[in-house]
Amino acid sequence: MKKWGMLFIAVLMVTMVLAACGQEKNNSGNAANNTGQAANQNETQAAGDSTEPAKKLIVGMSADFPPYEFHIKNDQGEDEIVGFDVEIAKEIAKDLGTELEIKDMLFDSLLNELSSGRVDLVISGLSPKPERAEQIDMSKIYYTAEQAVVTREADKDKYSTMESLEGAKIGVQKSSIQEDMAKEIPNAKLTSLAKINDIIMQLTSNRVDAAILEGPVAKAFVKNVKGIVITDAKPETEDEGYVVGVKKGNKELLDQVNATLDRLMNDGSIDKFVTEATELAEK
Ligand code: ARG
Repeated sequence: MKKWGMLFIAVLMVTMVLAACGQEKNNSGNAANNTGQAANQNETQAAGDSTEPAKKLIVGMSADFPPYEFHIKNDQGEDEIVGFDVEIAKEIAKDLGTELEIKDMLFDSLLNELSSGRVDLVISGLSPKPERAEQIDMSKIYYTAEQAVVTREADKDKYSTMESLEGAKIGVQKSSIQEDMAKEIPNAKLTSLAKINDIIMQLTSNRVDAAILEGPVAKAFVKNVKGIVITDAKPETEDEGYVVGVKKGNKELLDQVNATLDRLMNDGSIDKFVTEATELAEK
């Protein structure tokens, strides 16, 4: 009996190893299932033969940016990157017939990752700043939103105009258009950080007076973090809207991205994605 038991376990182990190999090769599946850090994990049911590796679309984003791209614990208790940029990425991959891989990176590294070819696209609440067009190509604008100033509850009235921010300590994301905006404020002392979370922490721990963020991002943080508010100040920028970044010269991919964006804008999908992501971000 003991012998049979051992044999059974051995057979079981071999089967498991083989199954794991099959799963690894068999990754030509549904792009929509394949996002976030769980890339490749949902491919067990992928059909078809596995002789040719599926082409992959690698999308870089800085997932510190609810409701555009952010981490959640999904129903299976796993970490997942979600947001309306993620939904757009899935649609682009679907139209291209490729598998999607999301890479979470620091915002200030994204354009270099794109020009060096380590990612195929940047979808990261990226604004069409003219200087960026020298380094990368940009799609049409797929969404626009306003800018916002966030401060501690007690200072809401103190920083209710852009003029009132003169000389203040301001937190912004490194290499963002918000950093450009803050530089325009006379005598402002900038704290430029790689991640939005850290900017919020600087604010709640009194190390900066205010932060400039995209409006939807500001709303998401204000909902989730106690003691911070959006003020009446209205930061302005000429680089409004969001675009998808494509490697310079890759016209074919750029055209395909624009075609998907047209489809998603015309049938109302983008608005739907924004609404759903906003609900998720505020949960
Ligand atoms: N829209 C701003 C810019 O393009 C900020 C984008 C930040 N994106 C992010 N995922 N953290 O500069």
